[in-house]
Amino acid sequence: MPNFLVTFLVLTLLVAALHEQVVSSCRSFCNSIPINYPFGIEDGCGSPQFRHMLNCSSTDLFFQTPSGNYKVQSIDYQKKNMVIFDPAMSTCSILQPHHDFVMSDIQSAIIPPSDDTIFVLMNCSVDSPVLNHYKSLCFNFAGHSCDELYGACTSFKLFHLLSNSSPPCCFTGYNTVNFMSMNILDCTHYTSVYNTDNLKGVGPLDWLYGMRLSYSVPDTGCERCTKSGGTCGFDVETEGMLCICSASINATRECAAGTVSSGVTNKQWRISFILTCLLLVSTTGYQFLHNFKKNVL
Ligand SMILES: *[C@@H]1O[C@H](CO)[C@@H](O)[C@H](O)[C@H]1NC(C)=O
Ligand SMILES: *[C@@H]1O[C@H](CO)[C@@H](O)[C@H](O)[C@H]1NC(C)=O
Ligand SMILES: *[C@@H]1O[C@H](CO)[C@@H](O)[C@H](O)[C@H]1NC(C)=O
Repeated sequence: MPNFLVTFLVLTLLVAALHEQVVSSCRSFCNSIPINYPFGIEDGCGSPQFRHMLNCSSTDLFFQTPSGNYKVQSIDYQKKNMVIFDPAMSTCSILQPHHDFVMSDIQSAIIPPSDDTIFVLMNCSVDSPVLNHYKSLCFNFAGHSCDELYGACTSFKLFHLLSNSSPPCCFTGYNTVNFMSMNILDCTHYTSVYNTDNLKGVGPLDWLYGMRLSYSVPDTGCERCTKSGGTCGFDVETEGMLCICSASINATRECAAGTVSSGVTNKQWRISFILTCLLLVSTTGYQFLHNFKKNVL
């Protein structure tokens, strides 16, 4: 009997695994990064508000904005944030040409850079608004100065060398960059740093360069769908919510029992049971014949 049980369970898992491969229409991973609600890779997966924001290549996950694609380094679903890195941005080790960071209006509203992400505008002209009328937008960042940046980083040393002085810079928040483009700000370079709450007394070489985006999840009843075993998605035409239950079944709110794509369904238990019985009958039959031959002949 234990043999029967083991065979039965192994077959059930096998059948479920085969079934799973066929039905999962929403990918739950991009390489090593888990993709859960409200995000989705395929159109129709996740929340419609986050539609077209992610792009999964064979090696990386990208966050797409009007100013370009940013590499996603991690997503924390508990804390509801995502760390992205602009490959075209200057950091302590590399100086890159002028580049704007622009988000769409909806991105600025539902997934803006978090409060612990700062922007450092560098090599600003003396006419820059942030040095004049909008001076108040620049803040003291945990006691750090431009000189420290221009001095510590191999990349930013160049500003110092070329001008033989310290060109002005400004530590500011996302709103400044959101309301004024780099052209208006009149600064040639920028970098962004996150996890800034922990950078008092830490030198620029050890800062974390990139941005942390903080997102809010729309309350559309996804939990009900997930609890029933489905994956939250939406109708690509109407953008109305869909609960994706299997390759052939989409529900409006939740999956009915037996339609679920993940986990083991009733139908799969039954298929495995029949397979196990067949296997058992054939092996005992074989044994019987074998013994019969040995004893009788
Ligand atoms: C279910 O929804 C997904 C995502 O919107 C879509 O790709 C799929 O074609 C739908 N399937 C059916 C049977 O409607
Ligand atoms: C994802 O990015 C690649 C290259 O960056 C592009 O060719 C492709 O069209 C993008 N996919 C989507 C759905 O935007
Ligand atoms: C710094 O800004 C000035 C103009 O304000 C520009 O001429 C110079 O090339 C910039 N320095 C670097 C290293 O890009």
